Amino acid sequence: MDVILTGDRPTGKLHLGHYVGSLKRRVELQNSGKYHNIFIMIADAQALTDNADNINKVRNNISEVALDYLACGLDPKKSTIFIQSQIPELCELSFYYMNLVTVSRLQRNPTVKNEIQLRGFKQSIPVGFFTYPISQAADITAFKANIVPVGEDQLPMIEQTREIVRSFNSQYKPVLIEPTAVLPENSVCSRLPGIDGAAKMSKSIGNCIYLSDSSNDIKKKVQSMFTDPTHLRVEDPGHTENNPVFIYLDAFCKDEYFKEFLPAYQNLDEMKEHYRRGGLGDGVVKKFLNEILQTELKPIREKRELLAQDLPRIFYMLHQGSIKAREVAAQTLSEVKTAMGINYFKDDIFSGRIEI
Ligand code: TRP
Repeated sequence: MDVILTGDRPTGKLHLGHYVGSLKRRVELQNSGKYHNIFIMIADAQALTDNADNINKVRNNISEVALDYLACGLDPKKSTIFIQSQIPELCELSFYYMNLVTVSRLQRNPTVKNEIQLRGFKQSIPVGFFTYPISQAADITAFKANIVPVGEDQLPMIEQTREIVRSFNSQYKPVLIEPTAVLPENSVCSRLPGIDGAAKMSKSIGNCIYLSDSSNDIKKKVQSMFTDPTHLRVEDPGHTENNPVFIYLDAFCKDEYFKEFLPAYQNLDEMKEHYRRGGLGDGVVKKFLNEILQTELKPIREKRELLAQDLPRIFYMLHQGSIKAREVAAQTLSEVKTAMGINYFKDDIFSGRIEI
C-alpha cells in the first residue's frame, strides 16, 4: 500500500523551480492511480519557524499555494490537500520524536545549515527553526507515507525521518514506516537555477519565474536572463553547461517544440552544438525558451485565474482536506502512544486490564 506525502511552505507563490522539481511529478503520480492515498500539505507551521513576526505573509500565501496546486493539476478528489497547523497531532508527534534526536545530529543537517547561513541567523536561531526536521518527520510519519516526492534539498530531511523511524520502531514497537524520497527523473529539474544564474530559484533573492506570472512578465524575465558571459558576439563559441537558458531548455524542451518554433534544428543536442561552435545568438535561444515557457505556463495561468475567482471554494476544499488528514494523523498518534505505553486512558492501562 503506497502512500505519498509532500508539501510546501506557504511563503510565496510557487515558481518554475517548484514546478519542475516537484509539482509536475506529483501530478503524474496522482494521475497514475497507483497510490492508495496522497497527502499534499501546505506547511504553514513550518513556514512560521522563521516568520514568527510575519504571520500575515504565511496566512496570505496559503490560498496562493493552493491555487498553484490546483492550477498544475492536483485534484482534491484524488489527493488530500490540507493545512499543517490544523493538525495538532503533528505537534504532539514532534514532541515525542524530539527525545530521539540529538542537538549535534540536527547541527549536521546540511539543508538547515545552509538556510541558517542564508537567513543570517548566526547564534540567534529560533528553536522551532532548528528543530523543523523533526517536525517534518512527524508530517511524513503521521500519514505512514512511504513515498515523499521532493527536490534534492529535502534529502537530509528524509534521512532524518528514516533515522527517527528506525529509532522509534526499535525502542518501542514497529508502528512507523520508513519513507523513501522520490526525486525528479530529469536531474536538471532537481535544482533549477534562478534567472540571474544563482544556484537556486528563490523568492527571497527575487530571481524566479512564477506560475502566476503574466505572459509579459515571463517574456521580460526570459529576456533578462543570465547566459554565458564569455559569449560576447554571436560568432563566439558559447558554453551550454552552467548556462541557465540551456538548463531551462533541458528541463522544458521537447522535440515537438523545434517543429513548432525553431525548425532550423531537430532537437536540443543540435541546437547546443551550434551554440558551442559559435554563430547562434542568445537572442534566438531566449526567444525559443520564451515560446516554450509561454506554451507550458499559459494553461496553468488561465486555470489559476479562473479558480481565484472563487476563493471560498478553495478554503472549503482545504477545510475538508484538513478534517480528513486529521483523522489519519490522530490514528497514528494513538498507535504511537500505545507503542510508547503512554496511551493511559485509551488502553486502560491504569485499570490493569492491559499490561504494557
Ligand atoms: N520543507 C519543505 C519545503 O521547504 C516543506 C515540507 C514540510 C515538507 N513538511 C514536509 C516536504 C514533509 C515533504 C514532506 O518545501
